[in-house]
Amino acid sequence: MNYLSIKDIDALPNWVSEARKLKENPRANKALGAGKTICLLFFNNSLRTRLSTQKAAMNLGLEVMVMNFGSEGWQLEFEDGRVMDQGKSEHIKEAAKVVSQFCDIVAIRAFASLTDKEKDETEIVLNGFKNYASIPVVNMESSVGHPLQALADAITLDEQKTIKRPKVVLSWAPHPKALPHAVANSFVEMMQLQDAEFVITHPKEYELNPEVTKGVKIEYDQKKAFENANFIYVKNWSSYSEYGKVLSQDSNWMMTQEKLGDAKFMHCLPVRRNVVVEDAVLDGEQSLVIEQANNRTYAAQVVLKRILEDN
Ligand code: CP
Repeated sequence: MNYLSIKDIDALPNWVSEARKLKENPRANKALGAGKTICLLFFNNSLRTRLSTQKAAMNLGLEVMVMNFGSEGWQLEFEDGRVMDQGKSEHIKEAAKVVSQFCDIVAIRAFASLTDKEKDETEIVLNGFKNYASIPVVNMESSVGHPLQALADAITLDEQKTIKRPKVVLSWAPHPKALPHAVANSFVEMMQLQDAEFVITHPKEYELNPEVTKGVKIEYDQKKAFENANFIYVKNWSSYSEYGKVLSQDSNWMMTQEKLGDAKFMHCLPVRRNVVVEDAVLDGEQSLVIEQANNRTYAAQVVLKRILEDN
């Protein structure tokens, strides 16, 4: 079993309820991973994903090896048949098979380049490991998805909702740098498995991949979208149609306490204060961002537990 995208979740409510049980007694299954090892390979920076996945693995009794592959590993070649006489020293075929000798599960973080849409959508790093490793592969944020984050968000929504069918809004917010679509994509995919009223709001030029948002209501008027919202999830992403470009930094889209009303505020973190969201929201009682980060452990733990049980 791999965990590469939200589509690998067979029944979201069961995964969420199992994660909530693990949260009550995180070390209950510490014998499950005894004698086994997980490798966490980072091609990009991280705070939450690195520590929460490591914590989850330790809770299950796994040994953990972490490598900042982007700065410490050999530069990898992913294309078949290449004459490797330039900068790349090792092919994914050998690298993935070698990693498989040292551990029982491998988890990969490899962001989108945001320069080549087609290449990003082939998920060369994640799929390279999936194709050539002989062990289960976990996505710790790839070019197009961040399914561990979305599973943590599902746990947070389940814990925090006070009505059966809440209104959840995903809102774009400004940011000075070009950011990937992975968090937004997986959140949208996860919300499509929920019993909720779900609305996305963003400026007109910020449509996400239409295959991901198929059937989801999009409201370009942020104020209208926020009416009667129970949860507002804020996230920046760069343009998808003009791939990787920052087309707007309109501060009118920043999240404020006034816009939040009675809703709960969500963001995956890291977040730029007073650019994406004002201080008052993050420092206020309606913010769930720390609980979302906390739930990253139990999202990773339910994934790793199922992989260990499956293998
Ligand atoms: N939300 C999230 O994935 O955080 P990190 O990038 O710090 O891991």
